[in-house]
Amino acid sequence: MSFLTRRKPLELGAPEGTGHLKKTLGWPHLMALGVGAIIGTGIYTLTGVAAGLAGPAVILSFAIAGIICAGAALCYAEMASLTPQAGSAYTYSYVTLGEGLAWIIGVGLILEYTLVCSAVSVGWSGYASGLLRGWGTPEVFLNNGVVDIPAIFIALVVTGVLLLGTHESANINFVLVCIKLTALAGFVVFTLPHFDAANFRPFAPFGLGAHEIAGGEAGKKYGMMGAAAIIFFAFYGFDAISTAAEEAKNPKRDLTIAILGSMALCTAIYMVIAACALGVVPYEPFSKSAEPLAYALKQLGQPVAARIIAGAAVVAMPTVIMVFMFGQSRVFFAMARDGLLPRALARVDGRGVPTAVTLMTGVVAAIFAGLVPLDEIASLANAGTLAAFVAVACAVMVLRVRSPELARPFVTPLVWLVAPATIVGCLYLFSSLQTKTMLFFLGANLVGAAFYLLYGRRKSRLATT
Ligand code: ALA
Repeated sequence: MSFLTRRKPLELGAPEGTGHLKKTLGWPHLMALGVGAIIGTGIYTLTGVAAGLAGPAVILSFAIAGIICAGAALCYAEMASLTPQAGSAYTYSYVTLGEGLAWIIGVGLILEYTLVCSAVSVGWSGYASGLLRGWGTPEVFLNNGVVDIPAIFIALVVTGVLLLGTHESANINFVLVCIKLTALAGFVVFTLPHFDAANFRPFAPFGLGAHEIAGGEAGKKYGMMGAAAIIFFAFYGFDAISTAAEEAKNPKRDLTIAILGSMALCTAIYMVIAACALGVVPYEPFSKSAEPLAYALKQLGQPVAARIIAGAAVVAMPTVIMVFMFGQSRVFFAMARDGLLPRALARVDGRGVPTAVTLMTGVVAAIFAGLVPLDEIASLANAGTLAAFVAVACAVMVLRVRSPELARPFVTPLVWLVAPATIVGCLYLFSSLQTKTMLFFLGANLVGAAFYLLYGRRKSRLATT
């Protein structure tokens, strides 16, 4: 069983013949990558779903999930600055916790990245369908509750854009992030004058802890923490930056600025948007809309503003899909390069694009997006992400003990408080997810474990060199 604990050396490079990713990204591009990944379906759509679970107390759910993510972001920043290799939490686990845990985290990340692409495609479809419906498009082509055609469409379009190459994609991303931020600023301008504290009463109709309720939807966990476990989805994304480490021009400095900067900026924006939305409409009808921010504006008698925000969501939300598909292909790249997945997946074309894995991710994401409800996709993505965050917080502490002499370009402040608190927070959020989600996550890991025992254990670069 010693294969489970064998560790990759910290500076292990790429083997011959698998190709290197091009170093094309500076910190503004990386930060745009972070903001592009963080602000998406979470604030635009899941705010509604979560408000249905917690009522206006969802604002506190945002705060709780944000604090836990900030702790994880600090741990990520230290690890990213120490191991600027593609693969994010997977690579960090491999160099510190051993191959067995790294494999589990890799599977969690693959789940997360694929499902985020699916979830955001569904969120996009909510706003796109709202607009298309207004133009008389037949229901069969919209998010009709059977097959979500617009969600499948956008997942495949983004796949095509990524196949054009990293640099072009990062530039497109930069422009779209600006549109997304402008639209959210517009939302605040239109809603703030109508803010009415009466909408905050009752503030926490379903209490604080996560629990099922009589008369609620079967299997769903309500309360402030139940909502936090879902809305957690809205905060992560900064980890996608660290997967681009090998493409950063100056990884140590640029990654640190980008991870912490994008996290702080997005957290601030979220708190304001959530307070504005829930301060202008009652939470119940708001929670039932597939395009909640547009709904809030329509209720204020602002149909044009509603169409503008829906349009901005439609134009800009694909950045999230783009960033996660980008990150996904690089996690595959790292795992294949290490021999844990077939090496054919690590091949990049002449422009540095891992074509096979990008295509594969896009197709699987499109299938989930077309067929599975949003809250279930988001919960499962959260499960994989929470596992990765726990691993990174453990990895930071292990490396502090094992290799205190390493020069750390970024040092997590109060690490013995921040890292354990992050672990406890993530485990608590995990326990607040639906039972169905936990079982599915376990199932995915059992399949993953079987694959590892049959393939990765023997083909691992550490076993063959
Ligand atoms: N944080 C990203 C979103 O909200 C995944 O869409």
